[in-house]
Amino acid sequence: MGGDRAYGWQVDGERPIVLVLHGPSLNLLGDREPEIYGSTTHAELAECCRAIGRELGLDVETRQTEHEGQMLAWLHDAADDGTPVVLNAGAWTHYSIAIGDACAQLTAPLVEVHISNVHKREPFRHHSYVSAHASGLIVGLGVRGYELALRWIAGATPR
Ligand code: DQA
Repeated sequence: MGGDRAYGWQVDGERPIVLVLHGPSLNLLGDREPEIYGSTTHAELAECCRAIGRELGLDVETRQTEHEGQMLAWLHDAADDGTPVVLNAGAWTHYSIAIGDACAQLTAPLVEVHISNVHKREPFRHHSYVSAHASGLIVGLGVRGYELALRWIAGATPR
C-alpha cells in the first residue's frame, strides 16, 4: 500500500480528497480532435469522476487550467496536504520541467493519465516529465483511464 511513500491524506469528513488535475486545452474535450480524444466533454468527464468518487467513498475534485503557474500551485498544495492526484498535464507533460519538479514533491499516490496513446503518436509526445514521479501511468484507454486511476487510488487509500 504505497510502498515507502509518506501519506498524509486530507480528509473531508469521512471521504479522502482526490484531485483530478487537467492542463491546457483539456477544457475543450468533446470539441477538440474527437477522433483522438473522443466525444466526452470536460464537464461530463468531471461529473463522471465525481460519481465514481461517490461510489468509491472518495471526495473527487476536478480542476482544469490553461496557466502553468496555477497548476504548479495546485501541485504544491497537494504536496503540502498529502493529497492523491490524477494528472493529465496535456502538452506540459512533454516539456515542463517545472511540472515534473512539482510532481517530485508529491507524497501521496500520483497517477498520470493520457486519453490518447501518446506512444503511438508524434515522437515529441513519447517523453514525459511526469512519469518518473508517478505511481503509475494509464495511456490510450480514453476517458475510461480516469475511472481506472480512481479505482486504483481508492484501493491504495488507508482508512
Ligand atoms: C494528452 C496527450 C498530450 O500529448 C496532448 O498534448 C494533450 C492530451 C492526452 O490526454 O492524450 O493535451 O495528454
